[in-house]
Amino acid sequence: MPETPEFHDRMLSLGLARVSEAAALASARLIGRGDEKAADQAAVNAMRDQLNKLDIAGVVVIGEGERDEAPMLFIGEEVGTGNGPAVDIALDPLEGTTLTAKDMPNALTVIAMGPRGSMLHAPDVYMEKLAIGPGFKRGVVTMDMSPSERISALAAAKGCSTEDITVCVLERPRHEEMIAEIRTTGAAIRLITDGDVAGIIHCAEAEKTGIDMYMGSGGAPEGVLAAAALKCMGGQIFGRLVFRNDDEKARAQKAGITNLDRVYTLNDMVTGDVIFAATGVTDGSILAGIKREPGFLTTETILMRSKTGSVRRMTYRNPTR
Ligand code: FBP
Repeated sequence: MPETPEFHDRMLSLGLARVSEAAALASARLIGRGDEKAADQAAVNAMRDQLNKLDIAGVVVIGEGERDEAPMLFIGEEVGTGNGPAVDIALDPLEGTTLTAKDMPNALTVIAMGPRGSMLHAPDVYMEKLAIGPGFKRGVVTMDMSPSERISALAAAKGCSTEDITVCVLERPRHEEMIAEIRTTGAAIRLITDGDVAGIIHCAEAEKTGIDMYMGSGGAPEGVLAAAALKCMGGQIFGRLVFRNDDEKARAQKAGITNLDRVYTLNDMVTGDVIFAATGVTDGSILAGIKREPGFLTTETILMRSKTGSVRRMTYRNPTR
């Protein structure tokens, strides 16, 4: 019987960076053009083309949606040449489609890869998320705590006042109560209009970004992608799926989820070693956005491996003619 090739994360990681770069480069001409769909489609096409050049037997586990709603990079789509290790892929070819269309900060292309079965097959529903950076005792903040309790606990662990804590939150009407409670603690809130993968990654580089904690609900697929990043960079993330109707519960059941109230930890969402790449589309606090000069586009990519905890930043000056 032929041997199944191993998942050589070190070798594959550079290929993954190219995939992420290709998606960003393709969306470059659509930054600030007011067309979310076109920007997303350009990133999807480029990501898929580049992914299909890799020697992997890949399956998309977090993707553009179910097969009937997404023609490309749908959940379950097989990608890669088929000649290589069996891997699972989580991706978001353009995380922050509106940010891109409006040329607002922190739009990214994102992709993570690990051996088959290494990532939670999160359905496309909301997830309540809580994340902090590395260096804290496990469980210093929990999903069961109220927003103000979480802030007090983190401030105590950091040895600072609650007023020195900054929490990142998606600006949504559903978060109004939570925001009001956070305000009572004196903590600062960095409101973002979109892009909670970047929002959560901010916590892993708190000294650089000024963000200590992320909380609130956003897409569950984005939760798994953020968990993959924190698996490499360090930090803690907790997630609980949020269902608005029976159809969403059915999506979860289809994805094999039986306990609908479960709180997922980082290691529940990402069970094996993964590699993660993200490329900046618009300027952000983690990555520079795409820069144009006559004849060239330049991207910045962050490439990480959870096995070693290595974080590599790569600048790519790509000739456009
Ligand atoms: P898109 O790039 O698909 O538009 O997603 C952006 C995003 O802000 C995610 O980062 C976040 O998880 C989700 O949308 C929040 O969903 P909603 O806009 O419904 O609150």
